[in-house]
Amino acid sequence: MKEHDLTRRQFIATASASSLAAVASTTLPAYADVTRTAGKLAILGGEPVRKNKSWPPWPYVDDQIVDAVVKTTKSGIWCRIQSASGTVPTFEKEFAKLMGAKFCVATGSGTQALHTCVEALGISAGDEVITSPYTDPGTIAAILSARALPVLADLDPASYQLDAADVEKRITENTRAIMPVHMMGQPCHLERIMAIAKQRNLAVIEDAAQAHLSEYQGKKLGTIAPLGCFSFQSSKTIACGEGGAIIGNDEELMDKCYTVHNHGTSRRGRTEVIGPKYRMNEFEAAVLLAQLAGAQERFRRRNENAAHLTSRLKGCPGIVPQKLYEGTASGSFYLYAMSYKKEHFNNVDRSRFLKAVEAEGVSLSPYIERGLHREPWVDHIVKTTAYQKTFSARRLQQFREQMSCPNCDRVCEEMAMIWASGPLLGTRADMDDIAAAILKVYENRDKLG
Ligand SMILES: Cc1ncc(COP(=O)(O)O)c(C=O)c1O
Repeated sequence: MKEHDLTRRQFIATASASSLAAVASTTLPAYADVTRTAGKLAILGGEPVRKNKSWPPWPYVDDQIVDAVVKTTKSGIWCRIQSASGTVPTFEKEFAKLMGAKFCVATGSGTQALHTCVEALGISAGDEVITSPYTDPGTIAAILSARALPVLADLDPASYQLDAADVEKRITENTRAIMPVHMMGQPCHLERIMAIAKQRNLAVIEDAAQAHLSEYQGKKLGTIAPLGCFSFQSSKTIACGEGGAIIGNDEELMDKCYTVHNHGTSRRGRTEVIGPKYRMNEFEAAVLLAQLAGAQERFRRRNENAAHLTSRLKGCPGIVPQKLYEGTASGSFYLYAMSYKKEHFNNVDRSRFLKAVEAEGVSLSPYIERGLHREPWVDHIVKTTAYQKTFSARRLQQFREQMSCPNCDRVCEEMAMIWASGPLLGTRADMDDIAAAILKVYENRDKLG
């Protein structure tokens, strides 16, 4: 029998009291605090691990943020075009500096940021963009809004990120760009994706909507490809309700992004190209600016807490935290994600496991129920005149037939994650609670059936 197949109680029963400490320090998995993971499950009437169910609140609010909004309200400068030194242009400068990029264009959402990039690169009807099926619908909405074809590649099931080899297989003569997504705020396999893009002469737009301040190979995510996009929607680790940003170092390309997002009107005041109106407003920027100073400290705290949590879960074969690629220095920990391996939990369904952990006072979520390859847009677009006019019937049929992402399906079935923006700002004891709740259910898996 392997070490992890023994329950904690079996360990205790087989070790004498005097030898237990020695065993614990040498043989036992690093995880559990015996007194907390033993005992009757709360779902079966026992005492929950965590009685205080509150976490550090999110979105983050302090007096500085409130004062900034009041100040903006009183100033009467509510729209970015009213002042070159208003909160939006100031936020753009500060955010670019924080990220180590030369330029930033703020938008009304992450979806708007991504769509602006697609338009600025001249991607339109008849073009294809390869992206992930495991993401927010905003990722593909950005491609569909340009009437280009979102081609979905499968995942590396351990990292929940795009599988670079599958991306390569899905390149066609119409492919113009790859839109890799940094899921859960952790770096995707960007080194491979950038190499493929270079070799095949494709543009890359980083969907870093969840990945504020994350670092990979010495650079911040969003600064590795020529264009990187962020979301500041309420749940994100830097948030203002709804908001987004594009960052980049190529002045000409970033200028195009500005023009596109400003209903096609350039900084020179001429209406030059097709463009929606995607400007961020001054209130959103005020909220963002006021939280930038503390964002790095909160980021550091989430990373430390995540490392602690991972170390507590180590040794439990039924729970496998998200795989990180070499070169990952830090992640935003917007979400703390792990795979639930049913086979190590006596084949107990994930929903039963989630309910049991919830009863212990810790809420985990399955997150994305099904990948975007399983949503109705796939059938919808092939019936529209826009797509029928710009793609051959054969290509559309092939597109439909190749909409299979079995690894993504598996990730959707196994995912168990914590909405972490607030919770991972907690204390070490909070992290111990999360681990103890999960491990208690693991230890008692034979009672869950
Ligand atoms: C990976 C990813 N891409 C794109 C988006 C879209 O951003 P927004 O909601 O700000 O439009 C999100 C938002 O959740 C996201 O998580």
